Amino acid sequence: MAASMATTAASGVAAFGSIAAATASPASSSRTVSFSSRGFFAASGEVLGLSFSSCSVRAGGFVTVQDGVAKQGVRGRSLQVRADAGASGPKSGQSTFKVAVLGAAGGIGQPLSLLIKMSPLISELRLYDIANVKGVAADLSHCNTPAQVSAYTGASELAAALKDVDLVIIPAGVPRKPGMTRDDLFNINAGIVRTLIEGVADHCPNALINIISNPVNSTVPIAAEVLKAKGVYDPKKLFGVTTLDVVRANTFVAQKKGLRLIDVNVPVIGGHAGVTILPLLSKTKPTVEFTPEEVEELTVRIQNAGTEVVEAKAGAGSATLSMAYAAARFAESCMRGLDGDSDVYECAYVQSEVTDLPFFATTVKLGKKGVEEIVAEDLEGLTEYEKKAVDALKSELKGSIEKGVTFAKKQAATV
Ligand SMILES: NC(=O)c1ccc[n+]([C@@H]2O[C@H](COP(=O)([O-])OP(=O)(O)OC[C@H]3O[C@@H](n4cnc5c(N)ncnc54)[C@H](O)[C@@H]3O)[C@@H](O)[C@H]2O)c1
Repeated sequence: MAASMATTAASGVAAFGSIAAATASPASSSRTVSFSSRGFFAASGEVLGLSFSSCSVRAGGFVTVQDGVAKQGVRGRSLQVRADAGASGPKSGQSTFKVAVLGAAGGIGQPLSLLIKMSPLISELRLYDIANVKGVAADLSHCNTPAQVSAYTGASELAAALKDVDLVIIPAGVPRKPGMTRDDLFNINAGIVRTLIEGVADHCPNALINIISNPVNSTVPIAAEVLKAKGVYDPKKLFGVTTLDVVRANTFVAQKKGLRLIDVNVPVIGGHAGVTILPLLSKTKPTVEFTPEEVEELTVRIQNAGTEVVEAKAGAGSATLSMAYAAARFAESCMRGLDGDSDVYECAYVQSEVTDLPFFATTVKLGKKGVEEIVAEDLEGLTEYEKKAVDALKSELKGSIEKGVTFAKKQAATV
């Protein structure tokens, strides 16, 4: 499995197969570990961790373990590619972060928990759900990667799940069914996110928060209002996860243009629903030309990719596996930022001043305190098509933000 993950990495900025010396003691000399079907193992046989790195890794590449840090064979550099690409093991040499997944028994929550259980950066993985999540935790706890797994079921155990965690990932909620838009989910998921964020404010106010529950365009502003009301809002720590849009854009562009998947990076800005999702095809790395017809076709496909999955699943929910992949990549990037990696970039929906809207997705630099920098250059040098699309998406995004803020304020007033 490790080998196929490594060689089919779906993104120019994220590649499965960043192997780090997680459980191995720091090596004093350099060793080379090949991506083979035994990709989890160093030549000496000790178990290594697997993490998601926002760097390009040469398919069938190599990892050199030096002083406890894995260095990969890397090709291509862009804004998204780390200077020290591949150094994905914890800088301290120890797994350090406590992570809680809220909604861990669900379609996204389970594969997401599996993927992040493989991260060498996590010391504790806490799984919370209102459904029984003990089986998921027991199952995952048998994987011989460093993270200790524990289960918390029901509202009475939320506080224990959240106590002092560094990163909270929230895929709790109901998924979209055929015919439903993301906004149809609003009333159910808005209440779920509000309650969970109240718990975050009370029990881990310093944690980074990754919100997956849709509609992200509204659930992030709701979370911000709840945190403000509790007096613990730090805009640098609140993220709407839009990574799946980037992952899809990279995949579709690579397919369309016959590029190697791992080379491609397309920034995606705006929001996370329909036309608010705007892939900046003109900023694709590597540089590639598109006809106006290709721009239109790819943009529409990326915007509607969620619906492609909803319809194919025919009533059985929305994207779960690709979402888990994308969320695991984003979580790993957040932790690498927390861990002090100096060059970690992802697109995310955050509080922002790059437009006149209070929230907007662009590339952000991740650091020890969350968002270290918002890359405003994403909005510079756009094509006419992209400029018009930015103007067009703003009114829908504004409405979704206001809907979230109004919901949160109304709820606060009735408490
Ligand atoms: N951001 C994205 O790109 C993206 C992509 C796909 C899906 N989603 C969203 O992710 C969410 C989850 O999707 P899914 O397919 O995993 O759904 P699912 O129904 O399979 O799982 C949701 C889980 O959340 C749990 N849950 C419900 N209320 C809860 C609460 N109050 N506290 C804790 N857990 C609770 C459920 O018990 C369930 O286990 C949906 O809102 C969906 O729309 C987001």
